[in-house]
Amino acid sequence: MSVSIKTPQEIEKMRIAGRLTGEALDYITPFVKAGVTTNELDKLCHDYIVDMQRGIPAPLDYAPQGHAPYPKSICTSINHQVCHGMPGDKALKNGDIVNLDITVIKDGYHGDSSRMFYVGEPSIQARRLCETTWQALWRGIRSVRPGACLGDIGHAIQSFVEPLGYSVVREFCGHGIGKHFHETPQVLHYGRPRTGLKLEAGMTFTIEPMINAGKAATKRLGDGWTVVTKDHSLSAQYEHTILVTDTGFEVLTVSDGCPPPPPLR
Ligand code: MF3
Ligand code: CO
Ligand code: CO
Repeated sequence: MSVSIKTPQEIEKMRIAGRLTGEALDYITPFVKAGVTTNELDKLCHDYIVDMQRGIPAPLDYAPQGHAPYPKSICTSINHQVCHGMPGDKALKNGDIVNLDITVIKDGYHGDSSRMFYVGEPSIQARRLCETTWQALWRGIRSVRPGACLGDIGHAIQSFVEPLGYSVVREFCGHGIGKHFHETPQVLHYGRPRTGLKLEAGMTFTIEPMINAGKAATKRLGDGWTVVTKDHSLSAQYEHTILVTDTGFEVLTVSDGCPPPPPLR
């Protein structure tokens, strides 16, 4: 399958889906507190997306090959959970870090974004991991321009986090996005400069680095979805949906409550 170049009409729809995704993350933010269960967060997001946004939560019943249909509307990955954390009836507690990953379909197009949330006061190590992962996402984003390569994105992320003692998860990656949730290309969060697909204006894809405080290895839990670090070290992730523009990039999953880009340094 070749990588699609979105038309101006499609890009406008991607902007709308992207903004709604960011706004759903804004909406849920004040509910992320000690005592709330991830099932409650899932239900709140589901109802907001369906009733207020008139959108569709893409994860619900999503069934890629080798997986049972996903039974929830968002992913909630706590502490050593890397991604695809399945909401459940366990309550969040003080000191937890949790990733909420939301994908909204609007008018046939997808927006996909995730953020880390602190429950109460996180440990210094947990905060540092989350902040580093946010910076790593933006290193990746800032390497996007026509003529750059996918390997440049991966390299920007990997070369930033590994010297800090962190590791990049290999088994999951960013992805093309549009009419479909997961399109070509795969966007790896590690790599070598000047390698891989060359970027062109009109491409849309996610960047969503999963960064572990310990080793990179992961395993899937018995629920068929939730992915955790093998060594049970903490893991963090941030995700944005990106458009390649004539001059660089545009972040499509922006909203008023979206954390601002880190300063250039
Ligand atoms: N939102 C995830 C991503 O960023 C995919 C979740 S698939 C699900 O690609 F089925 F677990 F929701
Ligand atoms: Co994604
Ligand atoms: Co996502």
